[in-house]
Order: sequence, then structure tokens, then C-alpha cells
Amino acid sequence: MENQFIIKGGNPLHGEVVIGGAKNAALGILAAAIMTDETVTIDNLPNVRDINVLLTAIESIGATVNRLGPHEVQINGSTISDVTIDYDSIRKIRASYYLLGALLGKYKRAQVALPGGCDIGSRPIDQHLKGFRALGATVNIEYGMINTFADQLTGNHIYLDVVSVGATINIMLASCMAEGRTVIENAAKEPHIVDVANFLNSMGANIKGAGTDKIRIDGVKRLHASEYSIIPDQIEAGTFMVAAAATKGDVLIRNVIPKHLEAISVKLIEIGANVEEFDDAVRVSATDRLGHTQIKTLPYPGFPTDMQPQIATLLALSNGTSTVTESIFENRFKYVDELTRMGANIKVEGNVAIIEGVTGFTGASISAPDLRAGAALVVAGLVADGFTTVDSIHFIERGYEDFDKKMTALGACMEKIPVDDEREIQKFKMKAV
Ligand code: UD1
Repeated sequence: MENQFIIKGGNPLHGEVVIGGAKNAALGILAAAIMTDETVTIDNLPNVRDINVLLTAIESIGATVNRLGPHEVQINGSTISDVTIDYDSIRKIRASYYLLGALLGKYKRAQVALPGGCDIGSRPIDQHLKGFRALGATVNIEYGMINTFADQLTGNHIYLDVVSVGATINIMLASCMAEGRTVIENAAKEPHIVDVANFLNSMGANIKGAGTDKIRIDGVKRLHASEYSIIPDQIEAGTFMVAAAATKGDVLIRNVIPKHLEAISVKLIEIGANVEEFDDAVRVSATDRLGHTQIKTLPYPGFPTDMQPQIATLLALSNGTSTVTESIFENRFKYVDELTRMGANIKVEGNVAIIEGVTGFTGASISAPDLRAGAALVVAGLVADGFTTVDSIHFIERGYEDFDKKMTALGACMEKIPVDDEREIQKFKMKAV
């Protein structure tokens, strides 16, 4: 039975929230973990759907996956008996492609179903494949599968035509046990790239320069056991920062790396919110209506595309005219129609959203079009007058652990109920009044 969120808006968020491990780092790290035959222990793993799908895929090829708790897992890749991954749910997650790089790097062959993920635009993987080919692999796409194999992988100089997080990580995976040196130029610099590189290095890889646009990978013969804790999730943290500001609340967001949040903090401060940085926490509060600004999504350290729907939602409630330019994915404004139904005044022209701030939203029945937009619509519901239901929350659960529980602990009035369960809706409304 599909669930939905029901929300009664109007409560400012107050208190403390603890951020989980970074989903996008974890996906790369779990794939990397199968590259050694020794046991790897990974901590601060977010307990979200994308991670669980990837773990199931890893198990399906024979690796041993031992969940020590909701946020800790042990993986042993010595029992892998197959290099073909083709089951339905793996197509739903983008990061299935990391298994290509990991299996190719370890066994010199892999066959993985073409990835899907959020429908936020066409998402080519030509740069990943170009990287594999540069290392000496043959790559074919047949019957919805990517098939890649090599006699030997040899380091090479690879210049990425577009800055791609996925391609950068995949090439690191495929090349870390190749013969000789690989250099990735125009590499992505996101925090999770550094985290995957640090994890691979903790297993004995020799990767330097992650976090800059030139990464050098010297191939090693083998990787070994490691214990590793994943970095905090930049986007989960950013979402709570925006939610605190949008509801005119005051929230201490704990277990974060403030440096990773700078692009978000700077914009919040610019429009009038208060952001206080601590060693591993940020506190965000707002009292008055916030102001307008211009935002353009860019690769790290620019403003993250994964925060675009959330910040646009906040700007839709702020004073004046803002523009949000989406420069990474072409189809990332699908939530605008839903926000409009709640009273927002947003016009999309090409890859630019022109936002005329309104003084408030009103509750409506809306649907999450994708992961981050879904979270943004929940934030809209938290601010809106009256009741909002958000369905298709399976998108949100791909990347946010206990989203409703964390919001409720901060004072939000929301609940997860079965879709269109009138009795539950009435019960919630009675309680909420
Ligand atoms: C990752 C994140 C996603 C985030 C995105 C940008 C994961 C699992 N997902 O996605 O949440 O929104 O980074 O920060 O980590 N491109 C090509 N050819 C390629 C690869 C990418 O043209 O081979 C283009 C894409 O269409 C896009 C841009 O490059 O316009 C960036 O994509 P990329 O960084 O690869 O995103 P993902 O790794 O898919």
C-alpha cells in the first residue's frame, strides 16, 4: 500500500535535528566495497531506499552483506559469483552504474541494466563509457544492458567533456586497480567524490587530488579490508536549513560539515536568514519575511542542483522577484505546477524560473514528482495554511530517512498515512485542529 504525507502547515520548526550519512557518497562507497575480497565495515550509512536497493543488488551477485544495524553494514566481496546485474529495481536507481565501474575494475567484466533514477532530464552516461574505453575496455549497449569487458585495464589521461559526479566516481572505481596512472581532468569536486576517494584509499588505493578538478589514480594490485564512516548528507542538511527558514523557525542542524553547506548558507544569509556555524552543526533561524535573490545551480562548490526545488520554494514565499537558473538538468522544474496549485507565482522560461514572491501558500493535494522536489513540496506544506497531502512519497524515501519523524520532532504537524485513507485523514484533521 502506497503511503502519503498529510501535513497541517503553520508550525515554525524548533529544536535539533541530526543529519544522516550522505546517500550519494554511500552509493559509491558500497559499490567500491565489493572490490576487495576482505571484509569492509561501513558506518553512518543512511537507511534509505536507494541504499537498500543497491545492497540487494550487491547481494544478488553473491557478495555477503551483513547489516549490523540500520546504519552499519559489513560487506565481503570474496563470494561474488556473477557479474550480471539485471533486476527491476536496480533500473530505478541512478547509481547502479557504479557497479559497472567496480566490477569492471575488479573482474575486468560487468553487465549492468541501464540506469534510471529521477526523471529530471535526459541523463546520458557517455562520459562514464568514454572513461572505461580509455582504460582499454570494450563497451556495448544491448537489450537495455551495458556490457563491458577488458583483457587488461591500463591507466590513461581522461578529460571529461562535462563535469560529471557519476563519471568521476566510476572512473576512479574502474581505474584504481588498473596498470599504471590514470588522470581525470575536469573532474567533479563534490564532497562525496572526496569521500569515495578517501574510502578507496583506506582500502589501499592510491588516489590523489580528489576535491580538485584533476584527480590522479595510481593503480594498485589489490585492495584490502577497511572500516569507514560516511560523511554527512549535504542535501538533507540543506533541506532542513531551508525548512527552518521557510517556517520562520530556529533549528540546530547537527552532524554536518558546515563547509559543504556554504553555497546554501550564503544564499540564506543574503535573503535575511540567520545562519550560525559551529564545528559540526549549523543553526538556522528566521523571524521576518525573507528577501529575493538570483541563484544558478552549478557543480560544487556552486549551488547544488539537488537544493534547487527547496530554495525555489523558499523564494516563492519571499519578498520581491527572484530567479533560479537550472544549469545541470533540463527538466527540474516539474514541481512548479504543484507549487502553483498552492498559490506560488512562478513562471518557467527555458531553464530559468522567475519567481514573484507571495505572502503565503494554501494547502492542496499534491504529488512528489521526484526526490528533491518531493522534499520541497513537504516544506511548502509545512508553511501552507490548512492541510496538504503529498503523495508519491516513495520518491522522498529514496533519499530522506524518517523525513516525517524528523520534521515532527521539530514541531511540524505531519503524519505518514496510507494514500486516500479517509479515516486516517479525518483522524489527523481532528487531532490537528
Ligand atoms: C549526481 C547525483 C545527483 C546530482 C548530480 C549533480 C548521485 C547518485 N546522484 O548525479 O543527485 O543531482 O550528481 O550534482 O550521486 N552528463 C553527461 N554525460 C555523462 C554524465 C553526465 O552529459 O556521461 C551530464 C548530465 O546530463 C548533467 C551533468 O552532466 O547535465 C551532471 O551530471 P552528473 O554529475 O553525472 O550527475 P549524476 O552523477 O547522474
